[in-house]
Amino acid sequence: MEIIRTISWMSQVAREAHAKERVVGLVPTMGALHEGHFSLIRAAKAECSPVVVSIFVNPKQFGPSEDFQKYPRAFEADRAALENLGVDYLFAPTPAEMYPRGFRTTVTVEGLSEKLEGRSRPGHFQGVTTIVLKLLGIVQPNRAYFGRKDAQQARIIRQMASDLNLTTQIVVRPILREPDGLALSSRNVYLNADQRRAATALYRSLEAVRQKIIAGERSADPLLAALRRVIDSEPGVVLDYAEIVDAETLEPVVSVRGECLILLAAKLGKTRLIDNALIEENNGAFRVTL
Ligand code: PAJ
Repeated sequence: MEIIRTISWMSQVAREAHAKERVVGLVPTMGALHEGHFSLIRAAKAECSPVVVSIFVNPKQFGPSEDFQKYPRAFEADRAALENLGVDYLFAPTPAEMYPRGFRTTVTVEGLSEKLEGRSRPGHFQGVTTIVLKLLGIVQPNRAYFGRKDAQQARIIRQMASDLNLTTQIVVRPILREPDGLALSSRNVYLNADQRRAATALYRSLEAVRQKIIAGERSADPLLAALRRVIDSEPGVVLDYAEIVDAETLEPVVSVRGECLILLAAKLGKTRLIDNALIEENNGAFRVTL
């Protein structure tokens, strides 16, 4: 595996791969890699060669009071894991390389970026779309891989790719979870033992909604009430938001139909976690995927 630090070298390597008509895959990450990231990389390996993984803790997507400084960094462990997975290129630029003096452009996907996570984290998605568009511009991948763990992010990136006629195919993969249901996240390392136990409330609350849907409930209010009951029964888990939204518009729905998302964010102490479930209707039959 080759480690690449500069944009010019990364673009040249990618250009050479394209000249040979190779299928270039990109998996953008912020490092502190876990099985969730690895699942994206394995999917990329199955479909692309070469596979580029980027590690860049993107300052622009962190708010002034957020955890940019202390966001977990584990470059050596990440490098070894990527080597083992057979990744071809690790692109790990510095902030100065990505945002040189005089950098002025921000990409905004209007409407989708201000709600849900965007309401709690103003400017977050502008930071995400700006860096993802840069990465897509540098690598020009045929396919780029994202996780449904960050469902709103994936929806926004799809919209950006469509609106800006990007040629990269955006691939969205399922959520990887711990055996007790907690979605894998680089931020899980912040949790102490009690918080780690309590954190399963997010998964359990989504599971409660799933059970209600299976039992025939379709109205968002009672579904969200069931979700809140689980969260409220876990002291130390403070709900930030929970909404059931249309998967396309991210607008709240009155009752579930078509494709919807149950999205929630909660705080355990200073640690903020998000999770979601996908609701799909097929001829009146509902499937809920956590
Ligand atoms: P990061 O949080 O490192 O996540 C990188 C990718 O891994 C994202 O697409 C995310 O959805 C996916 N991922 C994280 N946890 C997952 C899980 N448990 N199961 C499946 N996929 C999971 O998301 C970002 O970085 C950044 O915003 C980024 C897109 C790299 C832009 O800076």
